[in-house]
Amino acid sequence: METNASVEFFDGQFKLQVTRSELELNSFEKAALPFVSGSLLDFGCGLGNLALSAARRGSPVLALDASATAVDHVRTVARNERLPVRAERVDLRHYTTAESFDSVVSIGLLMFFDCATAWRQLDLLMSLVKPGGVAAINVLTQGTTFMGMFSAQGHCLFEQGELSRRFAGWDVLVDEGSIFPGPRETTKMFDTVIARRRG
Ligand SMILES: C[S@@+](CC[C@H](N)C(=O)[O-])C[C@H]1O[C@@H](n2cnc3c(N)ncnc32)[C@H](O)[C@@H]1O
Repeated sequence: METNASVEFFDGQFKLQVTRSELELNSFEKAALPFVSGSLLDFGCGLGNLALSAARRGSPVLALDASATAVDHVRTVARNERLPVRAERVDLRHYTTAESFDSVVSIGLLMFFDCATAWRQLDLLMSLVKPGGVAAINVLTQGTTFMGMFSAQGHCLFEQGELSRRFAGWDVLVDEGSIFPGPRETTKMFDTVIARRRG
């Protein structure tokens, strides 16, 4: 599978985290988990902390990422705990499926695509949510000055508020901006939207 600098950056980080057993849900995953029920697509699952937590609560999960370390880890934990998780290593810039889900989560992924690809894949994710189901999406926004994770293949900093505008016609349950310090006095700015598709 073709890979890129962003995926290699995370793959290296995940190797260290697995070795050190640093497997806590991050703050965005913690915020999204209470809204997850039924079948789950975790699009850019990383180490699968959210995907595995949802599976432990009974959700059948499809967990997708391009990092070999991440996908191997999710598969190993799922096999050991006999969890209903399918984990696949795929390039999510080109991924498509006809399956639909009760919950679709994508935390910290779409900004690693060029904007045309990010918006196309966001449209795909929204289309995969069953009526009455929930989408939880988190992206980096303009104002972010930490650029070290991006690859030469492009990236996309969403305009602030753009994510929630794209959920027009959905019931928006959470619409939140947040700001975190990055390395060397840089800044990471995020938008998170959690929304229910009208039935
Ligand atoms: C910021 S991490 C987020 C992981 C996880 N959702 C979390 O919250 O911890 C970004 C993830 O996107 C994945 N990724 C980046 N570009 C990708 C691509 N083109 N296809 C699939 N996964 C990709 C990385 O491997 C990494 O796991």
